[in-house]
Amino acid sequence: MCGIVGYIGNNAVEEILLSGLKNLEYRGYDSAGIALNDNQGIDVFRAKGKLNNLAEVLNFKHLETKHISQGIGHIRWATHGKATIENAHPHLSNDGKLVLVHNGIIENYKELKDELISQGFHFFSQTDTEAIVHLIDREYKKTFSLEQAVIKAIAMLKGAFALCIMHHNEPDKIIAVRKNAPLIIGLGKNENFIASDIPALVGKTQKIIHLDDNELAIVKKDKVIVKNFKGEVLNKAEENIQIAQDDITKQGYKHFMLKEICEQPQIIHKMLAEHIEMPEQPIHFDNINMTDLMEGVEKIEIVACGTSLNAAQIAQYMMEDLTGISVTIEPASEYIYKRHLTNNKTLSIGISQSGETADTITALKQAKANGAKILVITNRPDSSIVRYAHYVLPLNAGIEVSVAATKSYTAQLTMLCLLSLAMAENKQNMERQKILSIKQELLTLPIKMEEVLSSQREIKKCAEKYNKYKNFIYLARGINIATAQEGALKLKEISYINANSYVAGELKHGPIALLDSNMPILAIFSQNSKTYEKMLSNCEEAKARQAHLIALTNSSIENRKGFFDDMIIVPELSELLSPLLFALPIQLFAYYFADSLNLDVDQPRNLAKSVTVE
Ligand code: F6R
Repeated sequence: MCGIVGYIGNNAVEEILLSGLKNLEYRGYDSAGIALNDNQGIDVFRAKGKLNNLAEVLNFKHLETKHISQGIGHIRWATHGKATIENAHPHLSNDGKLVLVHNGIIENYKELKDELISQGFHFFSQTDTEAIVHLIDREYKKTFSLEQAVIKAIAMLKGAFALCIMHHNEPDKIIAVRKNAPLIIGLGKNENFIASDIPALVGKTQKIIHLDDNELAIVKKDKVIVKNFKGEVLNKAEENIQIAQDDITKQGYKHFMLKEICEQPQIIHKMLAEHIEMPEQPIHFDNINMTDLMEGVEKIEIVACGTSLNAAQIAQYMMEDLTGISVTIEPASEYIYKRHLTNNKTLSIGISQSGETADTITALKQAKANGAKILVITNRPDSSIVRYAHYVLPLNAGIEVSVAATKSYTAQLTMLCLLSLAMAENKQNMERQKILSIKQELLTLPIKMEEVLSSQREIKKCAEKYNKYKNFIYLARGINIATAQEGALKLKEISYINANSYVAGELKHGPIALLDSNMPILAIFSQNSKTYEKMLSNCEEAKARQAHLIALTNSSIENRKGFFDDMIIVPELSELLSPLLFALPIQLFAYYFADSLNLDVDQPRNLAKSVTVE
């Protein structure tokens, strides 16, 4: 949520900032801006909307960048104040000498703003960020040291902030600050970089320093000094990053979303090969000893948001079914506001693709404070969330660029299934033969996923047939209730259709009133399910109310072909594993639906991939 970049060095500043921001655009696209510091002063360029608009502004200015050796940039996901040019970052001090970009939320900005206005500072935006600029400026006028001014000012801020700050009088440095919002420093030769996330640094450097909370970095061309908020120097380790340019390009696909959907069989194949060496042997995870993990665990709780929360709901079914241990799930944003029975007998699992979701991090911090063991499942083992974990399971699904989660979802489901099986193996309360047969079936998943992808033309046709509808219902029972939720979430977030999911058995208790010939229903069910017949009865009830029915199923129920208006058939898989396969058609359906409406599939309105504010 909001992306920050900074550069100090002798190369083309403007280009470096823009290419860095391009790779961070998944974090927000309400506005974009850069500030450049040259001999004459600080120039700020800002534009509403996507980065392209900023690039046009810069073209128009015909910038001469050769005297510029320092700059900062920002892409915004609006929190305080609308998406306007006035609210776009960077924000300048009243004397035009101090400039900064910010990711996060300043909770006490109103009080600070009132105080600063009473002291004669002028505000030109509705943002919380502008209070930080004037605050640092006020302190600078007392200390004449940017570092001292920053340290004094941040002590007065409440909330979350990652900041990049420049002052015209101190052109040898950029100051980067981190508290509860991610920030990294990229290390180059006679040049250094600052960024919210690694993709901004791809192709520029492979060496980074992770800033931790309550740390700041004085970033100069030839050195980086990291300090705590008291100003004490810290020794920070350098790390190597492993993201290649190819990982963040479309490679011939029309959208990142389609590329990422199509990557799934390969990712899952790699994951299974890594964790199931021989089906007869226990599942293994590097760095996690299952006996140690499960020792003393009487209860499992899972916290997550959005798509990751849907994966958690499926995991609840799998874990309870395979281990007999009670599992609760909780939207991370609700966790800290509820009484929990979390204690040292609890295993708290946090699931987060980005590893930066503020709500999930906050929930895990509280669970840890209550004595729980913390296990994190993330696609970004380099992210903030792992700092609170006792155990980490990385997904290795590769960078997910499209805002809508796809490959990370099936990677999460696969990891959660492997974890549930490993727990069952460790508990030894289930027949070995049953575990073995689930593993063997799991190993068939990549090839079955390939089969689904090879029938995507039919899914496309089906999506295009229904793209005139403004409302949609997804129905399912049992473990696939969360598949229906995920299907509705995918459709609504990229096509802006009012798509909702219902537990099929609940239809007759109210939602059935919505049904008529303008309400298509996508019903998700497996033939080998306990609720197969019941699900068909629920579909009958809907049909009797003239609803259009699409079946997403793994059974070729010939005699039902006339009953359903359309059918999407996937290969056979047990009900327990079916969500892993049903995930692909629901993603493809949403993708082709939105694409046929010419919508911005990869960057849907109002969303950001990494939600770093609570
Ligand atoms: C939906 C989507 C979001 C995320 C949610 C959690 O397609 O991407 O709902 O799943 O914001 O994000 P992570 O998993 O990064 O914590």
